[in-house]
Amino acid sequence: MLDAQATAAPAVIRREDYRPPDWLVPDIALDFRLDSMRTRVASRLQVVRNGDHDRPLVLDGDGLTPVALRIDGVATDWRLDGDALVVPLPGGAHVVEVEVDIAPELNTQLMGLYASGGLLCTQCEAEGFRRITFFPDRPDVLSRYSVRMEADKARYPVLLANGDPVAAGDAGDGRHWAEWRDPFPKPCYLFALVAGDLVANRDSFTTLSGRKVDLGIWVRAADLSKTDHAMTALKLSMAWDEAVYGREYDLDVFNIVAVADFNFGAMENKGLNIFNSRYILADPDTATDADYDAVAGVVAHEYFHNWSGNRVTCRDWFQLSLKEGFTVFRDQQFSADQGSAAVKRIEDVRTLRAAQFPEDSGPLAHPIRPESYMEISNFYTATIYNKGAEVIRMMHAILGPERFRAATDLYFARHDGEAATCEDFVVAMEDGGGADLTQFRRWYSQAGTPRVVATLDHEGTTARLTLEQAVPATPGQPDKQPMVLPLRTRLFCGETSGPLCDERLILLTEPRQTFVFDDIATRPVLSINRGFSAPVTVETGRDAADLAFLSAHDDDPFARYEAMQQLMLDTLVAAVAEGRGDHGAVIEAVRNTLSDPALDKAFVGEAVLLPSEAFVGEQMLVVDPDAIHRAREALRTDLGKALEGEWRAAHAGAQANRFEYSPAAKGARRLKTVALGYIAAAGAADAAELAHAQFTGADNMTDRQGALTTLVNGDSALREAALEAFYRRYRDNALVLDKWFTTQALSTRDDALDAVLALEKHPDFTLANPNRVRALAGAFTANQRGFHAADGRGYGFLVDIIVALDRINPQTAAKLVPPLGRWRRFDEARATLMRAALGRIVETPGLSKDVFEQASKSLG
Ligand code: TRP
Ligand code: ZN
Repeated sequence: MLDAQATAAPAVIRREDYRPPDWLVPDIALDFRLDSMRTRVASRLQVVRNGDHDRPLVLDGDGLTPVALRIDGVATDWRLDGDALVVPLPGGAHVVEVEVDIAPELNTQLMGLYASGGLLCTQCEAEGFRRITFFPDRPDVLSRYSVRMEADKARYPVLLANGDPVAAGDAGDGRHWAEWRDPFPKPCYLFALVAGDLVANRDSFTTLSGRKVDLGIWVRAADLSKTDHAMTALKLSMAWDEAVYGREYDLDVFNIVAVADFNFGAMENKGLNIFNSRYILADPDTATDADYDAVAGVVAHEYFHNWSGNRVTCRDWFQLSLKEGFTVFRDQQFSADQGSAAVKRIEDVRTLRAAQFPEDSGPLAHPIRPESYMEISNFYTATIYNKGAEVIRMMHAILGPERFRAATDLYFARHDGEAATCEDFVVAMEDGGGADLTQFRRWYSQAGTPRVVATLDHEGTTARLTLEQAVPATPGQPDKQPMVLPLRTRLFCGETSGPLCDERLILLTEPRQTFVFDDIATRPVLSINRGFSAPVTVETGRDAADLAFLSAHDDDPFARYEAMQQLMLDTLVAAVAEGRGDHGAVIEAVRNTLSDPALDKAFVGEAVLLPSEAFVGEQMLVVDPDAIHRAREALRTDLGKALEGEWRAAHAGAQANRFEYSPAAKGARRLKTVALGYIAAAGAADAAELAHAQFTGADNMTDRQGALTTLVNGDSALREAALEAFYRRYRDNALVLDKWFTTQALSTRDDALDAVLALEKHPDFTLANPNRVRALAGAFTANQRGFHAADGRGYGFLVDIIVALDRINPQTAAKLVPPLGRWRRFDEARATLMRAALGRIVETPGLSKDVFEQASKSLG
């Protein structure tokens, strides 16, 4: 007989069902007797009835059983309804005390209180607090926390929690205790504690108004030397938020802890950020320039949450983009201000196109403010984060920087201490920025990437730009309304290479509109969506000559990059369709870019890179992974051969540099490894020796990993030697070993899939560490040709991992499902295999709701 429990689909939570909480909890005291196998958690809640009703207090729990329950000091019988504790209460205000036991050591989900490398730490967002104690686990219940921890002094000499430390002492028996108090009311998802044998990199920051803040970055002793970059980034972030947003820090201490086992990047717990160690630890020997940038970006992101997330939080999880979209926008602005803004924008757009565009065009498409979910963890998506940031960026573009700042000032002033909604944010933008955003609100409700078709006509001295927009149908949203699209636009003269007009911010609001440009005497060339001012695709029909012209002469660096990318894409798409492409225009454009002395090397390194195979696939109705791979490799080879002298000069020019972390040095390293890749693509006889020399001579990880990647993609005898040397050197450094797995998973060789299947059996591969899973399985799904091998073994590999991982860590397992949901874009044979793979997941007994939601929707 079927078990009804096991086959019933999980409940769907809907945005329209929001109701304010029945009970508020203005104060909570937590007492932890910490132990890795059995931690006793005693909580004391001051509860207050919210409004006129007679409903009981319902406290969320997840796998908890009360050891004791007291109401106003009197021991009481308890009743569970499912996982929730139901407490009938007679009056308007009571004190409710609950005790539970939990086992951090057995917590493999990494949600709630868990053990990581001998530490005890917490992760509560989104719904992990209910795994620690019974509580109304929703972001609109804000409480003042006071936390007492007691633990073995030798194993856990450091005891940290939110807010400020207030007292500490000896508890006898080799144990000690500490008390922390957080004066700012907060939702329980921002609760955190850490206990362990940690050392701190200490520093301080004095805020605008003169408050001295003690800063600490806490790590294992062996990692202390790798924390300076994060500390520098933290202080820069604190100063930047004061200068750009007028936001000051508000406690006397700010602590960051790095942990090795973490489901996400990092977490903004009030005054006690907890980080995946990959976003804290950096030194030249073990971290690439991209790692350094990511550390600074994530440190900034979590710090900025103190205002956009903590002081103003979310009313419910449907409002997640309120804090995440805004905070990603803020961290993007911060990073742009630290180095090359153009290169940062190129990277951000590349991420959006690689992660969010496929989501927006597939079965899991959702608006940045979703209408429903089964498991909220599945909605920490590129849409909520990255498209959410683009939506804020568009408001910034429409209002301009001054009015945008006035609007954010109003937003923070109006909602400080509150749990707010996306609507509150838009109203603040309207009131503080002086704009009508009625139609703009559709960005919050409509999913799908808008498509714009641009036609430019020129007659006499008038140019007419006709723009048509359409938003594709997405699941549950067959018909779409036109959006507000801010498109930065300029016309250039194809003959003199000068601009024909000033840049204009066009607001496209209708399905079809024509914009007139006067005094255009010569044939104009269209530069549109400059700086990627709207997250859309634009079809312009510009030919290779115009794209090559813009790639050399546009005054907007992002637009130059875009023109080059479009030229490369058109060339590759034509080559896939026709078997053999004409590479002349791309070669000349790349030659021009390489020889332009005005361009910085970081930009050149980005501009001359071909679009990824996956992005080429995105342009096609039916993705042919093998044909795309052949076309792209053929273009790489021709570029390598035709410009071999230029590549060698670029490579040699950067070779002698000693390591320095500066925008110029980073740019030189970027171009160096890109050039090395092209020398190898050309088939040069000495390519492997060049790569091996870079590998062995490198004084930094950027050069070393760049050289390793080139060797791994080739078939020289030095390949195995380099892989072996890298492994031996870094086998005890988990973060660097992750790179060793990823480099092989992303290999462009024919045997990438076989290599991945072998690596799954490697003694250093483990499902217990999310970074390691992502380094192998997550990375491999981005290897379009390997993952989509025609025999389906790539899909089989992924399903095995997902099913096995789901038993220990559903949240991380669910993140691996979406690549299988792209089956509509592949040929009949692959689509059938992908659907069968999803079917195998859905039919697995005992599946989590995390994975069930992703897999069942992906079959859609
Ligand atoms: N709020 C975190 C951030 O964006 C995200 C996060 C960290 C998270 N850990 C999580 C989300 C666990 C879901 C589950 O910075
Ligand atoms: Zn965030």
